[in-house]
Amino acid sequence: MTAIEVAGLTKSFGTVHAVRDLSFVVRRGAITGFLGPNGAGKTTTLRALLGLVAPTSGTATFAGRRYAEIQHPTHEIGVVLDTIRFHPGRRARDHLRVLALAADIRPSRVDEVLALVELTDAAHRRVGGFSLGMRQRLALAAALLGEPNLLVLDEPTNGLDPHGVAWLRGFMRSFVDVGGTVLVSSHQLAEIAQSVDDVVIVADGRSVLQSSITELGGPAELERTFLELTTAAPASQNGALR
Ligand SMILES: Nc1ncnc2c1ncn2[C@@H]1O[C@H](COP(=O)(O)OP(=O)(O)OP(=O)(O)O)[C@@H](O)[C@H]1O
Ligand SMILES: [Mg+2]
Repeated sequence: MTAIEVAGLTKSFGTVHAVRDLSFVVRRGAITGFLGPNGAGKTTTLRALLGLVAPTSGTATFAGRRYAEIQHPTHEIGVVLDTIRFHPGRRARDHLRVLALAADIRPSRVDEVLALVELTDAAHRRVGGFSLGMRQRLALAAALLGEPNLLVLDEPTNGLDPHGVAWLRGFMRSFVDVGGTVLVSSHQLAEIAQSVDDVVIVADGRSVLQSSITELGGPAELERTFLELTTAAPASQNGALR
């Protein structure tokens, strides 16, 4: 069953072709790693999926529906994008309370999500004093408020220390173990390679590979394939210099 389908997605910003005719699917009940080097078009694709930029052409849908067509998106889809903004003077728990109130979510859910992301001890602290890793956890807590069964995470390991990265991997796995689906982008292959079921590799706005890790032959093979597919251009330039 398909949770997300991106079909022929193209997005240009003037002369910059951020995404070019990109197609892939995200299987329900699996973690799909959306991998590619800096500037490959990952964030642009996720923004198009979430209705934050209008595609130049093509579609990006959740089981056939555009994000804007979903009646209660916070209850279906949890989103963490790479541009997280918090009111610096607000305490973590209050930040979540405001969001819960706005989305008609029971107030007791706030402490549940704080516990899920292991921020209970920092719940009373002002967000302005949070480390980047703590902000990532808080953003994830916010995404979980509506008890969604699908998570779209853009570079969620940014700012996390090794313990935090390991924790996130475990978190994603337990999320899908109970029936959830995760689409997670990263340019840090090593950080998520061990924890994804499927991969979509993009380079220069184009899909260069969609596969399950099993088909690829395991995480080690993924790393080799990724480097091979995403460094093709510089390698040939080096060749030309010789
Ligand atoms: N609003 C915008 N206006 C102009 N160009 C943009 C805009 N957003 C993205 N781009 C360009 O589109 C290309 C893809 O950017 P995008 O942010 O999608 O890449 P990414 O894969 O998320 O990279 P990273 O790993 O660094 O987050 C880049 O060349 C970027 O400069
Ligand atoms: Mg990005």
